Amino acid sequence: MNIDIIISADHIEENLLRDKVVVVIDMLRATSVITTAFMNGCKEVIPYLTVEEAREKSTEFKSGQCVLGGERKAVKIEGFDLSNSPLEYTEDVVKGKTVIMTTTNGTRTLTECSKAKRVLVGAMINGKAVAKKLIELGDDVVIVNAGTNGQFSMDDFICAGYMINKMLKMSSKLYLTDIAKTANYIYENNTGIESFIKNARHYGVMEDLNLMDDILYCMKKNITDIVPEYKDGHIIE
Ligand code: MLT
Repeated sequence: MNIDIIISADHIEENLLRDKVVVVIDMLRATSVITTAFMNGCKEVIPYLTVEEAREKSTEFKSGQCVLGGERKAVKIEGFDLSNSPLEYTEDVVKGKTVIMTTTNGTRTLTECSKAKRVLVGAMINGKAVAKKLIELGDDVVIVNAGTNGQFSMDDFICAGYMINKMLKMSSKLYLTDIAKTANYIYENNTGIESFIKNARHYGVMEDLNLMDDILYCMKKNITDIVPEYKDGHIIE
């Protein structure tokens, strides 16, 4: 199995995804939010690129059947039910409902990966389960980091390294590109991850917005075995 990494949404090329299993990572916070929504029993998540598309879609649902969540500049969007804090996606809020979401980088990255063979949703909180699923599937893997506004982000990169590190413990037949080896190397040397992530730009933005509880939650390892999958425009469990 070959393992590669794409460093941000701006670097996605269709030909790099074809016939590959893709894992989209936006650990701070979109893919942590999506995974949490499934942990708390949501029916599905529908990601949208724009605020307008998300709003429009929500009008198709009867009251109480969907929640509208997401962010711009890491802040809740006016008129939306929820922000992009995973801590808001509790069972009493999302159980049995469709979550309609738009975020700056995470939902953009997901929607741009639709040409891949399969698209899984990964974060620290389900990292080991993602690694296990990738080994079971046995196809070549491209880990797509959402990054921040098209740029490389340290948080998504170390999360990719964590998944690769787990996969290396499960199989001896993995062929890593240099960037995949580098991600693993960085994780191996920063297994606590916060000392590394706290240098990331988005960490600073979230810290300034008093979102430390979200950061601490998103850095937790393996709190669930759920691996959501993006298929035909919907994310399902
Ligand atoms: C995104 O998709 O850009 C992020 O999840 C931003 C955030 O932390 O809300």
